[in-house]
Amino acid sequence: MWLVVVSVPLLPALLMVSSRFRVKVSTLCHQAAAWALRLLRGKVCVRSTHAFVFSNCTHGKADSVMETFELYADTNPSLCISPPTGEAVAEVVRRVSPYQVLEFGMHCGYSSVLLLRLLPPAGRLITVELDPLTAELGEEVILVAGFKHTQFQVLTSSSADAIPTLRPFLEPGERTSEGLDLVLMDHDPQQYLSDLLALEREALLRPSGCSVLLIHRNQRAEDVRGILDQIRTRADRYCIKSELQCMTELFYRKGNTRTDR
Ligand SMILES: *[C@@H]1O[C@H](CO)[C@@H](O)[C@H](O)[C@H]1NC(C)=O
Repeated sequence: MWLVVVSVPLLPALLMVSSRFRVKVSTLCHQAAAWALRLLRGKVCVRSTHAFVFSNCTHGKADSVMETFELYADTNPSLCISPPTGEAVAEVVRRVSPYQVLEFGMHCGYSSVLLLRLLPPAGRLITVELDPLTAELGEEVILVAGFKHTQFQVLTSSSADAIPTLRPFLEPGERTSEGLDLVLMDHDPQQYLSDLLALEREALLRPSGCSVLLIHRNQRAEDVRGILDQIRTRADRYCIKSELQCMTELFYRKGNTRTDR
């Protein structure tokens, strides 16, 4: 009896909490469902892209792998960056002529092959992918394109976990030991800024100059602006070289060494 007496005044509060909780639970469920669906679609897409490229390209020919990816994307929804975005990336790579490149987010391996194809023979790509299946299929595509394990390294991990472990993957050498020449970010846009700052903290960006490409896939304009506003507050080290709808190019330089490339 005393329990009822005590609970009656609490009833409105309890009702309020439970109704609020219900809203939260349903939002959470909704988010979880959307996330699972995206993940599932992503996996299906990665699998079918991989199957198409694997069976329809000329093995050992990077150009053929690229063309087959583009052929697939012509008629199927694809997770690869679009050919115009690919061309924008390629333009930067040709201009910067990097030795050591870091990629976050492999999707189907299209951009990995694009990057490797433009690197010099001594160049090296480190690519970090969170999803094990995507990493495995992406690695296979890189090998099918004719590249060797000495030219690339696939790490299956989140970007945040990978960053502190990257140093040993950088090649020793007069030029290469300075750090990364190019970073391509095409993973979770919410990680772009924190990962960039972590790479800087770990002294992985080449002090005399490192280009950073942020790929924008359906990213809200205000979110992109938020990142760029943060970058602008670090004008001593970063400059925004170009802003396209699909991609932003940043340039990092720590010291007063050498001239702008
Ligand atoms: C290879 O290409 C053909 C023609 O475009 C297509 O019908 C076929 O499904 C592709 N193979 C795979 C495994 O996707």
